[in-house]
Amino acid sequence: MSRRILHEALAVATRAAHQAGQLLEARMGRPTTVRTKRSLTDLVTEVDGASERLLYAAIRRAFPDHGFRGEERVRVNPQAPYQWLVDPLDGTTNFVHGVPAFAISMGLLHRGQLVAGLVYDPMRKERFTAIRAGGAWRNGIRMRVSRARRLTDSLLATGFSPRFRRHPAPYLHWFRTFQMRCHAVRRPGSTALSLAYVACGRHDGFYERDLWPWDIAAGILLVEEAGGRVTDFRGGSVRLEVGEVLATNGRIHEPMRALLRVQSSP
Ligand code: IPD
Ligand code: CA
Ligand code: CA
Repeated sequence: MSRRILHEALAVATRAAHQAGQLLEARMGRPTTVRTKRSLTDLVTEVDGASERLLYAAIRRAFPDHGFRGEERVRVNPQAPYQWLVDPLDGTTNFVHGVPAFAISMGLLHRGQLVAGLVYDPMRKERFTAIRAGGAWRNGIRMRVSRARRLTDSLLATGFSPRFRRHPAPYLHWFRTFQMRCHAVRRPGSTALSLAYVACGRHDGFYERDLWPWDIAAGILLVEEAGGRVTDFRGGSVRLEVGEVLATNGRIHEPMRALLRVQSSP
């Protein structure tokens, strides 16, 4: 695998995300159909599918032998060495309600290892990219995680998965635990953007569970390549299919991990 291929892949992904981003920008707050998927709080619109088709067409044109797994429908070449994991609209609930906080997330794996990632925010025109062992950038400028040393000086983010209602207790416990100890816990509604914000130093840490591979693939690489640390809640490697993520600037990782170990208060 050459570095040149990864730069090429990011260039193609960037062009595709800009195009899909125009569609999201134009349709924000006024999709034609809103349906629920796996639960009553898991929304999908016709724009999610249209964005995915557009992204897939661009990848297929440039890299016909790559695999592609999108959240909505497309799944091709699952055995190929290169695999794209794509969320064509991360933050659909915000999108439906006209809240301008959502993103396109495209992660590229080579033989199971994350090698390139792009998160694009079409409303702010912010592009977050990373290449394995090559660094991370925001709109082409090198980005680094924050330097906050203590939880008490930190701004954190989290999310409540559509699966929240099945087991709300730990989520509520962790939210309270962190909110009592840091500047604030945000709940932005887009996991991909939250991870990008850890990577560029706006947030010091992010935690969430019950996520999907396409929510986190690109964002994990962004944080790692920006000098941060990403593990599951126990400190082990993140398994994309499990979807439990603690991503921090590194300095507040252990204190956060220690608090996440405790599931719910008595
Ligand atoms: C959701 C968002 C949200 C997170 C959910 C995801 P979607 O993705 O990332 O922040 O809390 O777990 O499902 O459905 O908008 O692509
Ligand atoms: Ca998502
Ligand atoms: Ca989505």
